[in-house]
Amino acid sequence: MNQDNRSTDHYFVAAPKSEAKFGLVRTTLCGKSFEFLTASSVFSKRRVDLGTRLLIESMVLPKTGYVLDIGCGYGAVGIVAASLNPKLSVVMTDVNMRAARLARKNVELNKVANAEVRYGYLYEPVEGLVFSCVLSNPPVSAGMETVKAIVKEAPKVMADKGTFQMVIRSKIGAKTLPSVFNETFGNCTVLARESGFRVLMGQHQAV
Ligand SMILES: C[S@@+](CC[C@H](N)C(=O)[O-])C[C@H]1O[C@@H](n2cnc3c(N)ncnc32)[C@H](O)[C@@H]1O
Repeated sequence: MNQDNRSTDHYFVAAPKSEAKFGLVRTTLCGKSFEFLTASSVFSKRRVDLGTRLLIESMVLPKTGYVLDIGCGYGAVGIVAASLNPKLSVVMTDVNMRAARLARKNVELNKVANAEVRYGYLYEPVEGLVFSCVLSNPPVSAGMETVKAIVKEAPKVMADKGTFQMVIRSKIGAKTLPSVFNETFGNCTVLARESGFRVLMGQHQAV
């Protein structure tokens, strides 16, 4: 593998060309211990990202039903959600094959029985499912159009009164995203604000 290939891999490419260099992140989230196998060309290889952490610590989970972690990376958000409430069925998706493989391994590593991982673009891998909750730490590096698509296309897989929760760096999303939430859901609340990030929530109202 040449150096050029290595340097052009972004964390959101479908099949990273660079050789996978693995790492292990051990951390505490919501008062519980977790271990995550990570790798190069996957988002936040060395530690759980601050935005991810804020989303996890502030997410509001339903009592039952399906939960989607869209763009799961190595799986921290979905795995913690599944582990906090075994009555949930958690589906985790990513367009990066390496991330999806790692997330699958991490589901096993953390002995979580109620989570599965699917590979694919945006909502394609979960067509036909209905979610009570959608969680997202979006791929800002892939461009705001992708971030907006994650918000705007969510209602097609959401249950009535289901919630959509997204963490975003305040500098990037504070101005543009609330209006996208309002256009999509007719509402937008701020669940948490910390370390330059905020977690936005919209509640789907089926017509
Ligand atoms: C900012 S990272 C967050 C990863 C993980 N949720 C976390 O918080 O550690 C965004 C993730 O979205 C994935 N992604 C990018 N474009 C996507 C798309 N069109 N459909 C699904 N996932 C996508 C990337 O591969 C990446 O893993």
